[in-house]
Amino acid sequence: MKHFRMPATVLLSAAMLVAGAQSASARPVHDASLRALADRADVRIGAAVDMTALVDETDYRRTTASEFNSVTAENVMKWESVEPERGTYDWSKADELVAFARAHGQAVRGHTLLWHNQLPAWLTAGVADGSIDAKELRGILHKHVTAEVSHFKGRIYQWDVVNEVFNDDGSLRDSLWLQKLGPSYIADTFRWAHAADPKAKLFLNDYNVEGVNAKSTAYYELARDLRKQGVPVQGFGIQGHLSIQYGFPGDVSDNVARFAKLGMQTAFTEVDVRMALPVDSEKLAKQATYFRGLLDACLGSRSCKSFTVWGFTDKHSWVPGVFTGEGAATLLDEEYAQKPAYTAVAEGLREGR
Ligand code: G3I
Repeated sequence: MKHFRMPATVLLSAAMLVAGAQSASARPVHDASLRALADRADVRIGAAVDMTALVDETDYRRTTASEFNSVTAENVMKWESVEPERGTYDWSKADELVAFARAHGQAVRGHTLLWHNQLPAWLTAGVADGSIDAKELRGILHKHVTAEVSHFKGRIYQWDVVNEVFNDDGSLRDSLWLQKLGPSYIADTFRWAHAADPKAKLFLNDYNVEGVNAKSTAYYELARDLRKQGVPVQGFGIQGHLSIQYGFPGDVSDNVARFAKLGMQTAFTEVDVRMALPVDSEKLAKQATYFRGLLDACLGSRSCKSFTVWGFTDKHSWVPGVFTGEGAATLLDEEYAQKPAYTAVAEGLREGR
């Protein structure tokens, strides 16, 4: 199907009309939006945004605007999206999100400068066939980080600079970055990002690091050591992809506190709580406690500046495509009706810090 791309200006003016004239039926029953409650709690409540849904679906666009004061590009700021061909940049979809955010008074989290996934094919193929050697790869990485951070300079408040660089046991992930460049690629990427935008806060980001464990301790020691060397590692991003099939992680507040003690910001960056389908009231109630538990850990520390959900409606979530038989991981159901998790987050924001 030909994808109609509404020009950003038309999109934004239409969105502003829609957001202003939102129908009562679509508006959550809660008496205040999450973003209004978050403003009072001095925290950013964010959502990862699917740009196709934002352009194509009025309910999605209206809810993104009315419920969140921060947005993250779910995919369109990733390397495969912004540089699909070597040296040929396509900022169009990311620029649409930034323009939407600007029109709706929202801050933007940048996601993500360096990852082992969603790299452009020309890069992975060149490394694989040896046509890109280590020296050239480091130059390509430097150019990418500088180009992307410079393009969005002044418009991104937090960057996920490196994403998912440790294994659960605390060892460094054996990615092409480590294989070709050695561990120094992490410090290099932070330094290059900082040089391109000294005001953006630069984050490490990963999953399974909610509590105190081997993985989060590896990040703590890495951040501690790099900061001692003057590397601008300024924030720790806790993704928060949970499942009610497992226990709620222990020591989340202690984990946040130790990064805060290093002088770092923290953030919950990709929160969702999946479950085995079908949904039932007991599962939804348990899901709500998991969302609330992570939110309380954020609000319990002044270091935690943002709490972002990875999608906000079960109609658009990455979970069912990856975890067969699981889903219902977000705050609103497929019809955008509030779930107990939405109410739990709203109540947590209302109670504040
Ligand atoms: O863009 C192509 C499209 O052209 C093609 O027709 C379609 C079908 O093959 O695929 C589209 O690409 C998909 C892409 O999302 C954009 O929609 C990929 O197949 C799909 O794998 C990719 O999934 C994303 C996933 O990261 C990739 O690992 C999810 O949407 C995204 O939610 C997820 O997000 C990650 C964070 O970035 C990092 N933390 C974990 C989190 C969940 O995996």
